Amino acid sequence: MGDSTLMERPRIDDRTSVLVLTGAGVSAESGIPTFRGAGGLWESHSFTDLASPEGFDADPALVWRFYSSRREGAKGCRPNPGHLALVELERRLGDRFLLATQNVDGLHRDAGSERLVEIHGNLFTSRCSSCSRPPFEDRASHLHGAPPCERCGARLRPHIVWFGEMLDPSHLERIHRFLTEAARRGPLVFLAAGTSGAVYPAAGLVDEARQLGACTWLVNADPADNGHRFEHFTQGRTGEVLPDLLGP
Ligand code: OAD
Repeated sequence: MGDSTLMERPRIDDRTSVLVLTGAGVSAESGIPTFRGAGGLWESHSFTDLASPEGFDADPALVWRFYSSRREGAKGCRPNPGHLALVELERRLGDRFLLATQNVDGLHRDAGSERLVEIHGNLFTSRCSSCSRPPFEDRASHLHGAPPCERCGARLRPHIVWFGEMLDPSHLERIHRFLTEAARRGPLVFLAAGTSGAVYPAAGLVDEARQLGACTWLVNADPADNGHRFEHFTQGRTGEVLPDLLGP
């Protein structure tokens, strides 16, 4: 792993493709709490009660109060320079860029990112827990229990991937396709930013990228759980580091 004291920068020329994976740390400077570490959500809340199908079955009202308060908390938050640096990079690279985010707060889209896969869902989207009604935008707070589906009457739930659930296979497929085609086309950079590397399959993307010959970079405030699998590590806040690291 590289040293973070000298600001190394990934080489990104007009043939390079870049896959970026972001996590909660990227939104921390916008005022959204992270999940792990001091002050993280999972320090004071039980993720089995609040973010699992079993927790939802046991107490849907509690789960909706949690996600409603996260909706209210996220509503006033704005993208920070870390989000904007990724938008700038996408403008330079076009289809040679893809952003996979574990964040559900929508700040990448608010910032202007377009080639974006929200692999853990979206905080402002709900779906039926039973029927095939497509997920829909829902910015409301539901403080008195799970609202009923208009189509079938079953409970609505947040459109979030909970512990024990599978990611949308079409999202993973899009990422795998991007990586393989990019590796065939030219140099490939994989950059993970603001993520603890504790949750799979996202934490395993670095291995897939390396197998395809990617140069791998990690930008994080603290060493990540999967940090030893990156070639380069820049320790710091993404709102400060990404504009320097990715700027022209
Ligand atoms: P975590 O909360 O696990 O990790 C956030 C990481 O960001 C930590 O390693 C912090 O050190 C780092 N960090 C904090 N502030 C930062 C800053 N300003 N700049 C750079 N780094 C900073 O968040 P994720 O890795 O995103 O899943 O967690 C992965 C998944 O676990 C989440 O998507 C969520 C959670 O359970 C679901 O809700 C489905």
